[in-house]
Amino acid sequence: MFANLPILPVSGSVVSKDQNKPWGGVFDGDTDPRVEKFTESVSFDHRLSAQDVRGSTAHARMLATTGVLTEGECQQIVDGLEQIGSEIADGRFVFRTELEDVHMNIERALIERIGDVGRKLHTGRSRNDQVSTDFRLWIRDAIDAIDTRLVELQAAFVGRCERDADVILPGYTHLQRAQPVLANHYWLAYCEKLERDRTRLTDCRTRVNQLPLGTAALAGTTIKIDRQMVADELGFEGLVANSLDSSSDRDFAIEFAFVLTLVAEHLSTWAEEWILWSTIEFNFLTLPQAYCTGSSIMPQKINPDVLELTRGKTARVVGNLQSLLVLVKGLPLAYNRDLQEDKERVFDSAETVLACLEMAAAVVTGAELNREVIAEGLDRGYLDATTLMEYLIGLGIPQRTAHEIIGNLVAVAMKQGVPLAGLPLSTFQSAHESLDEKVFAVLGVEQAVAAFCSYGSTAPAEVAKQVAMWQERLKN
Ligand code: ARG
Repeated sequence: MFANLPILPVSGSVVSKDQNKPWGGVFDGDTDPRVEKFTESVSFDHRLSAQDVRGSTAHARMLATTGVLTEGECQQIVDGLEQIGSEIADGRFVFRTELEDVHMNIERALIERIGDVGRKLHTGRSRNDQVSTDFRLWIRDAIDAIDTRLVELQAAFVGRCERDADVILPGYTHLQRAQPVLANHYWLAYCEKLERDRTRLTDCRTRVNQLPLGTAALAGTTIKIDRQMVADELGFEGLVANSLDSSSDRDFAIEFAFVLTLVAEHLSTWAEEWILWSTIEFNFLTLPQAYCTGSSIMPQKINPDVLELTRGKTARVVGNLQSLLVLVKGLPLAYNRDLQEDKERVFDSAETVLACLEMAAAVVTGAELNREVIAEGLDRGYLDATTLMEYLIGLGIPQRTAHEIIGNLVAVAMKQGVPLAGLPLSTFQSAHESLDEKVFAVLGVEQAVAAFCSYGSTAPAEVAKQVAMWQERLKN
């Protein structure tokens, strides 16, 4: 069963001292190449290169200020790091898996370029605080990028509001027709969800944006360092206060993954809704063809694959969060190598959500509501029944009684196969003596929508205010 899997040869004897390992001193011989392959992270954490260079540069500058490095040494290190940084950015840098991770690759390259001075860079820090710093810097950038995309998607929804202002849609609970709502009320519902995602991101960012560097392996350092200086240089809002916490903490990554999960869930809800709406059965909207794909066997098919994948990719984002939560479960303080498994999960969630948001904005802008079809179907489902009940309440009838009266009226209308407005006045009058011809003023979806008045409702005036508020908010 495993016959075709490539198996690396086992190194026969472990004798020669491995020159590649900065930690090799205590070891008698080489690492088994299979262990190198098993433990390496550079194949994915090379994505932290720019952050690693930034962090190391700030660290070196700080070491010069506190007198650990001379100005000349610091300059050599900073220049060397800059050179390495641009080689990585241009794709000219060769990462080596035997050097394990991005941190040791960059440090080794520095030593190869500037010699022994490079061996001083790792003073007063460890890879444990280094990786946390790099990762936090990466997540900070990712938060900003995702926030921008969230705003773009909100703008796409708000961008529809002018053209869709007069469209009434059936609102659903239990996916059964419930009450009429303005299309714009739907669009703004998504804006609100995305706005909460934005506030969660902002909130999460403050906890991400605490500097771990200088907490070293787990206990801090005896070297004279100035962590505040590094924080200022790198734009961190504060310092992680406890070195044990710093070395073991991945809350910031998990929290970010959670916020991304809610974004993905919101997109998934929207995608599911629009998949339904684009079916012949609903036929509420036509998706932009550039965001649909066809079938290789059924020539007529125009499938909503972008929406389906948006819904489907939510699974991996949820899975990533689950993996992270299980990853840290029961880990003793402080750093454990298990934590290396965090990065791919976070990278994947961030990339996935970014891609979904980009698609969503385009689909939202490009879709067209099938206004006639929607309008034709609006008198089905007794969407005005609740408004009529509230009208009765307005006449002084207790809610429970009004509910029953209207329930009976709906049953009569259903039997006759007519909407409520299709019942004769006599039926209303025999349902309750206080009902007269004025009842027809609240029947039918248009009038039912117009009757709403509460804050947050689909009342046209309220929705118009909200649209104006969103347009103003998204102006810049
Ligand atoms: N690649 C490691 C990680 O992602 C870096 C930290 C390694 N620290 C250690 N003590 N081995 O977690």
